[in-house]
Amino acid sequence: MRIGIPMESAPAETRVAATPKTVAQLVKLGYEVMVEEGAGAKAAYPDSEYLAAGADIVGRAVAWSADVVCKINPPIEAEIDAMGEGATLISLIDAPRAASLLQALADKGLTVLAMDSVPRISRAQSMDVISSMANIGGYRAVVEAAHEFGSFFTGQVTAAGKVPPARVFVSGAGVAGLAAIGTAHSLGAVVHATDIRPEVAEQVESMGADFVAVNVAEQQQSSDGYAKEASADYAAAAEKMYADQAKVSDIIITTALIPGKPAPRLITEQMVASMKPGSVIVDMAAAAGGNVAGSVPDQVVTTSNGVKILGYTDLPARLPTQASQLYGTNVVNLMKLVTPAKDGDMVLDMNDVVQRSMTVVSEGTITWPPPPVQVSKAGPTNQPAVVAGPDAEPKKRNPMVNAIALGICAVLLMALFWVSPTGLLSHFMVFALAVVIGYYVIGNVNHALHTPLMSVTNAISGIIIVGALAGLSSASPSVIIAILSIVGILLASINIFGGFTVTQRMLAMFRKA
Ligand code: NAI
Repeated sequence: MRIGIPMESAPAETRVAATPKTVAQLVKLGYEVMVEEGAGAKAAYPDSEYLAAGADIVGRAVAWSADVVCKINPPIEAEIDAMGEGATLISLIDAPRAASLLQALADKGLTVLAMDSVPRISRAQSMDVISSMANIGGYRAVVEAAHEFGSFFTGQVTAAGKVPPARVFVSGAGVAGLAAIGTAHSLGAVVHATDIRPEVAEQVESMGADFVAVNVAEQQQSSDGYAKEASADYAAAAEKMYADQAKVSDIIITTALIPGKPAPRLITEQMVASMKPGSVIVDMAAAAGGNVAGSVPDQVVTTSNGVKILGYTDLPARLPTQASQLYGTNVVNLMKLVTPAKDGDMVLDMNDVVQRSMTVVSEGTITWPPPPVQVSKAGPTNQPAVVAGPDAEPKKRNPMVNAIALGICAVLLMALFWVSPTGLLSHFMVFALAVVIGYYVIGNVNHALHTPLMSVTNAISGIIIVGALAGLSSASPSVIIAILSIVGILLASINIFGGFTVTQRMLAMFRKA
């Protein structure tokens, strides 16, 4: 099949849906890739690099006539017209707000995979364009703020005096918020952050910020990876917290969003007025109505008290090289999913939850919205009660049977001790105690501590091997001792070498390619 990569037609767009690196990956999957002349120029990817990666450089009409067209922004009318009947489009669609676009795409008989409809489940993370772009957006928001801010982010002690670090406050600790926290922290700022979902506090702290909680009983539970709208109680408590933070912050970055709703208004005019002159606010949600009073999409507004409010909606496009690479990689990961035979033939499996969620139009039929996907980590209190049938009732064992089984075991053990050498009883006592203590101690060790635990078990396995070797090397080992020694050496060796192999594989996951 042929994949077309046209140049983006939106005037401010700098990104491209494939880079030379991702083109090479698509070619490896068996596709013929056709890149429109100059498509990657604004993202610093010249045609020559696409050619070297195995693509053909073609005119606009040819790129649009491909079997699969990959682009970034939703197509305009002329672009839909340029597509071949029955072709597949892969792009951002913004399906909840694009009813007429979906109809036009369906009328053309197309199949459309929306890159912004990837469900937020871990298996689909490698295709999640919203997250990869939000990550870039969060980073760039801090860079833009630093550019407008008149002082250092980091604190310094110089001969000319002491410079305090900038104080950054981030609202909304989703993908963009966490990226902003990490970037501001790495620039040396003192970072505070809040979110309506208290469970993100740990992530906020791991990125280097202090979590500022809103003191209210309400607890947000996410069932689809996104937040729900706040209650009136929460809003009142949050307003006080935002007012306090505005007074002491130099930079505020807001990323709060509830999908499908206008962005919540978090920073009021009074709060902006209470900020120091020279402070900067980046309203990342400006396109969705704005979290900040007075923010204007794509503009820098300077208030009467000298606070700059940045409403840029094109933050990822301000890093076009990186953004194109991440978008392109998301597309490659999708193509890997829909090309199971790696033969350049795209096969959509509508039973797969990821492919189903992304398919907003299928062969001329609108298939949006998809069935809801449950991605919650919600606690047991939120779990639906399981209605157990009569078969599900746990079978209770008769206590009489238990007592008889226990008695038989005791008699068998006594018989064994009767006929066995005198030393066996004391060895058996040690063995039984080791089993009981080991069961309770090791069974309760946190998973995160299993690797250090391994070194202890390796020491024990080593002792077993030494003991078994001593048994084997004794002058005349009995057959039983020889067999037990060999089994002991085998199992202890599996424990030692298997443990090292698993550790090696785990470490490889964290090594850079
Ligand atoms: P996300 O859904 O991962 O994060 C949003 C966060 O806001 C969530 O953690 C949610 O719990 C929190 N939130 C919702 N309501 C809140 C409230 N009332 N108070 C405090 N926190 C609240 O979304 P993501 O991907 O991080 O994007 C964040 C925003 O950035 C979106 O509005 C998105 O459209 C925007 N964005 C803007 C870009 C630009 O160029 N300006 C680029 C990329 C994303």
